[in-house]
Amino acid sequence: MKNKFYITTPIYYVNAEPHLGHAYTTVVTDVQNRFHKLLGDETFFLTGTDEHGDKIVQASESRGIDPKTYADRISSMFRESWPLLNIRPDRFIRTTDPEHTATVQYILQKVFDRGNIVFKEYEGLYCFGCERFYVERELKDGKCPDHGTAPVNLKESNYFFTMSRYQDWLVDHIKRNASFITPERYRNEVLSFLKDPLDDLCISRPVSRLTWGIPLPFDSKFVTYVWFDALINYLTGLGYPDHSRFREFWPAAEHVIAKDILKPHGIYWPTMLKSLGLEPYKRLHVHGYWQIRDQKMSKSIGNVIRPGYLLDAFGCDATRYCLMREMVFGLDAGFSEDAFRVRINADLANDLGNLISRTLAMVHKYCGGKVPPYTGSDGPETTLRTASEQLVPVWEREMRAFAMHKALSAVWEVISVANKVIDTAAPWEMAKDPARSEELGNVLYTLLESIRIFSVLVAPVTPETAEKIQGALGIDPEKNLNVNSVRNWGLLQPGTTTSRIPSLFPRLDIAERPAGSEKNKKTAGQRRKKGKQMKETDAGGGRKTGGDGYITFEQFQNVDLRVAEIVDAEKMPRADRLLKLTVRCPEERTIVAGIAEHFSPEELKGRQVIVVANLKPVKLRGVKSEGMLLVAKDGSGLHLSAVAVPVEPGAKIS
Ligand code: MSP
Repeated sequence: MKNKFYITTPIYYVNAEPHLGHAYTTVVTDVQNRFHKLLGDETFFLTGTDEHGDKIVQASESRGIDPKTYADRISSMFRESWPLLNIRPDRFIRTTDPEHTATVQYILQKVFDRGNIVFKEYEGLYCFGCERFYVERELKDGKCPDHGTAPVNLKESNYFFTMSRYQDWLVDHIKRNASFITPERYRNEVLSFLKDPLDDLCISRPVSRLTWGIPLPFDSKFVTYVWFDALINYLTGLGYPDHSRFREFWPAAEHVIAKDILKPHGIYWPTMLKSLGLEPYKRLHVHGYWQIRDQKMSKSIGNVIRPGYLLDAFGCDATRYCLMREMVFGLDAGFSEDAFRVRINADLANDLGNLISRTLAMVHKYCGGKVPPYTGSDGPETTLRTASEQLVPVWEREMRAFAMHKALSAVWEVISVANKVIDTAAPWEMAKDPARSEELGNVLYTLLESIRIFSVLVAPVTPETAEKIQGALGIDPEKNLNVNSVRNWGLLQPGTTTSRIPSLFPRLDIAERPAGSEKNKKTAGQRRKKGKQMKETDAGGGRKTGGDGYITFEQFQNVDLRVAEIVDAEKMPRADRLLKLTVRCPEERTIVAGIAEHFSPEELKGRQVIVVANLKPVKLRGVKSEGMLLVAKDGSGLHLSAVAVPVEPGAKIS
């Protein structure tokens, strides 16, 4: 029997039109859904809209229309946006669907009958923006942490879900299941919240105050609190309680959300499920915010980027690629259109696009467009074969862990190996000598077979591109777009007719910098090359080798390598890749390191790392950087260098 995989996005409020933040979550979910399909799993992908509550009433009133007409309008905007990004949900649910109303009422009655809903009077601090009561300790300077407004004192009789009864069970469940909430920082956040006693959850609103909601089945003077209503969509989506889909898919449920709604998903939802006598979901995946100038992109701040804008500027696959590549799942990321352009030119137009067009052109010219035979020689292409074979398990591991940026970076490492193989093997030289035709065939076959592997591995993120590549290789995506087809080398049949394709990704113009300096006018390719050179020079400590590839012992001794302890780390404003670190080695100093995409400031604090302590200080974004961190880089990303046991900060490495 096939493995099951059930994945959901949050259902989005219809008080705002879709923006990049919503698009990101939904693309992640689609990418994971496609990945699991590639693995051969049977999948179900749910998204939709959350349409009840005060927020929606206010938004519709401000436009002078009734809530349902308003909800219809915005809901269809969400529904129509997703196909443009090649997002393919199996179901689009709305909380105003009659089926959902029936499910919510069925569940309320069941929880009520089990004695888990009680009626009591409550006086507390209520935030209308969040539509919930706050306790004093949750407020920031007496104000709602999300809305920055002071909550009002409200005294009301209401129905409460006895959430507190399940606190111990929940703590135990989270502790026993390391991957219940990931990444780990969010698991810790929920556990730390659960250190304080949980209050019961107010799940009703009197109709005297709000009518736009699902009536409580046991008291028509109240409607259901919007979060209690909304979370249940994940069950309605599967046809709970009677549909066979529910029984098959519920044990495989994985939710994707951003950190803003961690508490309802990490605390309310599992306890609600427990009170119903259901198993909790399998995993909760929590990501950070897309930000603009260090502020969360959101409708209320008004700093949003619309998905349509990105699609017009970059096209579908390139947008999906940048979303997955430019954000480390779990951490915040700064949105920059320029960074997207640089990324597209470097990775998609140059690395991938050129590899494919160069290879197909050579196959066309030297082999009449047919896949040549492979006899398994030991030329430079063997590095590529090994790298491509080793790539598949690394990619699979990272994709399973929701580390899409790492999976992609691993694929691109091997794409660059392929480009290097073309340069070192120089097939055009081989083609001049008929005695080298076997060698030439081996190089070109290896390139084509590696490209076939890449086409499968990029498919979850760039599905159209994957199909185009397979079409050019003369193979049928219907049969070949699956992970089994890349577990073994050599499935591409010699003799298959390939075809040349127009460039996959046109190069984009990079806007000129306002300063107008020559330095700032460089193209993406030039900038990238320069970046690479800088890295290479830095790694050598700025010293020249003797020309024979060696450095002398004295030269090595000139490099002051030391163990440093990171005492503080923070993001650099407007510099997505840079972190400002305060290290002790043993004196305190500042090092600016380009590792923000790989590590969060929190995870670095307290860690030890090897640094080059006598690198000439430089100013980076106005901050003096006094040294360089050494890191190891492999297909899965960057890893801090360190000695095997903690040592005195400042200890010399010799
Ligand atoms: N309706 C609730 C969710 C109920 S789920 C049972 C809700 N809706 S929302 O419209 O506010 O959507 C919040 C979600 O949108 C976030 O959790 C995240 O998935 C996405 N994002 C909204 N802004 C975002 C960013 N700036 N960055 C990343 N994701 C963002 O909460």
